[in-house]
Amino acid sequence: MSVHLLFHSGTVHHRRVPKLLRQPIKLPNRADKSEVFIRRETSRGKKNQIKILLCSADMEQTEVVKPETLDELTAILHKIFESDNINVEEVQNIMESYESKPHEWMKYAKFDQYRYTRNLVDEGNGKFNLMILCWGEGHGSSIHDHTDSHCFLKLLQGQLKETLFDWPDRKSHGDMVQKSQRILQENKVAYINDSIGLHRVENVSHTECAVSLHLYSPPFETCQTFDQRTGHKNTVKMTFWSKYGERTPYTSVSQENN
Ligand SMILES: [Fe+2]
Repeated sequence: MSVHLLFHSGTVHHRRVPKLLRQPIKLPNRADKSEVFIRRETSRGKKNQIKILLCSADMEQTEVVKPETLDELTAILHKIFESDNINVEEVQNIMESYESKPHEWMKYAKFDQYRYTRNLVDEGNGKFNLMILCWGEGHGSSIHDHTDSHCFLKLLQGQLKETLFDWPDRKSHGDMVQKSQRILQENKVAYINDSIGLHRVENVSHTECAVSLHLYSPPFETCQTFDQRTGHKNTVKMTFWSKYGERTPYTSVSQENN
């Protein structure tokens, strides 16, 4: 499996670097080649076994992995995250190459009238959390961090606006500094971690809902939210609106913001 870390070199703040990235990078040899076997139905109803190879960086040829279903994507992610050395671009590419099919994720897509919801899809053997976030019209998050984790965000339906902010300076008061803004399009994958900055995610549409697939590694249960006007922060605990397609009992309005 390729392990070179393709990381944003132009980062500003280095006080928060994901734990995974502090580990030494070990280049694998040929014996480290991993294989994932995934069963697919053929048109005749017979089962087909398709071998997907995740190759080491020094191999001559790397087979392009294109997950055909959300289940296949999940299986490939399990394989990738067996290693502690994560290639951010590899995860991003694989998530992006999955073409969203609503009938595959509809059972997880549970909306709330008042704010966006977090719906757990898979716990990634403790290495990552895969979840689907459902954004009604006008729903948005606070400005938040990612608790020293990697965060991948793929649009399954609709569009989301991402606004990136600098970490607030202890000495500064007043408005937080906005670095950039972009519209995330369907099937595209965005990536962020605490060394890149903080962000706010919003569905600015007043007519369309949005659905996004998020991967967080390592998983985390709390994050910090920030007041845009003052830079003051709060720690919030995050909850799931549903798990594996089943509504989580006794969850009212959740506080999460990631
Ligand atoms: Fe986030």
